[in-house]
Amino acid sequence: MTRKRILSGMRPTGKLHLGNLHGALKNWVDLQERGEHDCYYFVADWHALTSDYSDTVNLRDNRIDMVIDWLSAGLDPEKSTLFVQSSVKEHAELFLILSMITPLAWLERNPTYKEMRAELSGKDLSTFGFLGYPVLQAADIIMYKAHGVPVGVDQLPHVELTREIARRFNFMYREIFPLPEPRLTDFPKLLGIDGRKMSKSYENSIYISDRGDVLVKKVAAMFTDPQRMRRKDPGRPEICNVYTFHQIYSPAEDVDRIGVECRNAGIGCTDCKQQLSARIADTMKPVHDRRDYYLHHPDEVRAVIECGNARATRIARQTMEEVREAVKI
Ligand code: TRP
Ligand code: SF4
Repeated sequence: MTRKRILSGMRPTGKLHLGNLHGALKNWVDLQERGEHDCYYFVADWHALTSDYSDTVNLRDNRIDMVIDWLSAGLDPEKSTLFVQSSVKEHAELFLILSMITPLAWLERNPTYKEMRAELSGKDLSTFGFLGYPVLQAADIIMYKAHGVPVGVDQLPHVELTREIARRFNFMYREIFPLPEPRLTDFPKLLGIDGRKMSKSYENSIYISDRGDVLVKKVAAMFTDPQRMRRKDPGRPEICNVYTFHQIYSPAEDVDRIGVECRNAGIGCTDCKQQLSARIADTMKPVHDRRDYYLHHPDEVRAVIECGNARATRIARQTMEEVREAVKI
């Protein structure tokens, strides 16, 4: 019997940061390692076009860079299928068919749509393609008859919409698609070095690729408890982003010690940060080693993608045969 499938994707908008690593990628790697599902992970380059259609110079490079970040994080092409959306043209055909049965009102009321339009106010997102973003996402997911979709909370409306579209298809034509379940990661949100949400556009991110001096400097620049002005002031670790990072990167006994010493002004922020950057460097060592390997073996990365594309295409073709049969087209 074939195993149930997991599917997820990311838009190739540039290098990935530690928030992406712990929020999404770790979850992907865990699912891969648990071995209960067949995992499919893809580069959503058509989705990148929906908002960045006017600036595509880096799109191809970003695609490769992102796969290198994935491999560095521990995704294993022997265990998971890694592919590129735009290489599997069937996604476009399923998107087209789903667009016929998706009521406009479902798209217009989508909270992510409203938020993104407001947030990315510098771009003109009043396009057909951007409104259809979740329909393309639905096509991505149900193409592989995925049962689980590991995503962050921001993507929940999209998975919900996918379920509604799949339900409508099943009801209208034939019961082909399982209804996918979101699989959330419960992970403390990592803030950027300026205390805002870690985001490439805020230039406050620590990237997976950051190491050495770059890493040390970024950690040294992190915002801490604003009430701790002087070394002798007691701090509040529970509101300090540096402390949140320690909870991820340092062993439990160090985390406890730092908590206590921060509260009684036994440790200074400079020390605390130095300890943190050393811990991050340690933890990231295997990731950086894999990164070095793949940076020096770009042909291997390309081969991984080709092989993943072929595996994904095989399934997509089967699904589309069933879909055409059901729709009678
Ligand atoms: N919308 C997702 C994001 O911005 C990317 C994505 C595209 C996706 N298609 C998907 C995620 C299918 C999960 C499943 O992060
Ligand atoms: Fe934050 Fe560490 Fe400074 Fe406490 S000592 S405020 S945890 S950086």
